[in-house]
Amino acid sequence: MTEKVVINEVGPRDGLQNQARVLSPEQRLQLIEALIAAGLPAIEVGSFVSPRAVPAMADTDRVIAGLPRNGVYYSALVPNRKGYELARASGIKAIGSVIATSNTFNEKNIRMSSAQALAVVLDLIADSKRDGIDALVYLSTAWECPYEGRIEARAVIDLAAQVFAAGATEVVIADTIGAADPAATAALMKMLVDEFGAARLTCHFHDTRGMALANVYAALECGIAKFDASIGGLGGCPFAPGASGNVITEDLVFMFESMGVKTGIDFQKLMAARDLLRKAIPEEPIYGHTPEAGLPKGFRAAA
Ligand code: COA
Ligand code: ZN
Repeated sequence: MTEKVVINEVGPRDGLQNQARVLSPEQRLQLIEALIAAGLPAIEVGSFVSPRAVPAMADTDRVIAGLPRNGVYYSALVPNRKGYELARASGIKAIGSVIATSNTFNEKNIRMSSAQALAVVLDLIADSKRDGIDALVYLSTAWECPYEGRIEARAVIDLAAQVFAAGATEVVIADTIGAADPAATAALMKMLVDEFGAARLTCHFHDTRGMALANVYAALECGIAKFDASIGGLGGCPFAPGASGNVITEDLVFMFESMGVKTGIDFQKLMAARDLLRKAIPEEPIYGHTPEAGLPKGFRAAA
């Protein structure tokens, strides 16, 4: 099995975008700095979306301007051309564009039909390549759409094929509403890995029904080695009814490290980032089994 994984921390975007309390760019940076100190190798630092649609993500350019320069892989979410222009001006080196597998979800989330959304994503990939920016593409609602129900694997594979052919750096397969189970995860991810290889695929699971860790494990067994996760299990899409938080970074780190799979993350320092988050949004619940229970006595991080 895989010996080493990359956890892409999405709390500063997928997590904070959903909070009633809007954090200042300085507070967002403090959280990012604590995550960096804990050893997170990749962080989604914000999004360039309409500040009216998602007030918590306003001023992402100011967050990016303050990012420490180091080896951390920073990315930002971009839904459209305007967002792309802002992202490019900010100096970020990786963008994540979004397309859902279903027409209704594209309409609700980004006010575009699937055909329009695909055209935009393909366009953004072309621009990114020209500008030397990595183009990650989120395929959201990859297993189930909150409006249209079950999604055919074929639809996901076709979309992935189109964005890879256009030059996407990486495709992120997202269970936006946490409806996948480990068998469905394995089935889809195996097909995708057979088709495109595991190296350019990431998985993004929400824990809406408590399946996120199990789904990560199922994807790991298919060879996937990069996972999105959110500190404190924050997250959920404002445009996906019933969606709740992402797989919890703290629990994911514990699972991997105790299995001997290296994450490069220091659990105690991750707790410091968690404390900072708790102070920043004191009225919100933050989740995590391992932080509540503490590490088992016999725990040894993967060397
Ligand atoms: N960044 C900042 N502002 C943007 C923007 C962007 N990427 N895209 C559009 N806007 C602004 C426009 O300038 C316009 O502002 P104005 O009314 O002051 O002129 C307003 O938003 C509406 O623009 P329009 O092109 O009509 O877009 P829309 O109303 O169809 O909205 C989205 C489309 C995608 C921009 C908007 O719905 C959005 O940002 N949604 C958030 C998506 C998201 O974050 N989802 C969760 C993660 S998947
Ligand atoms: Zn998500």
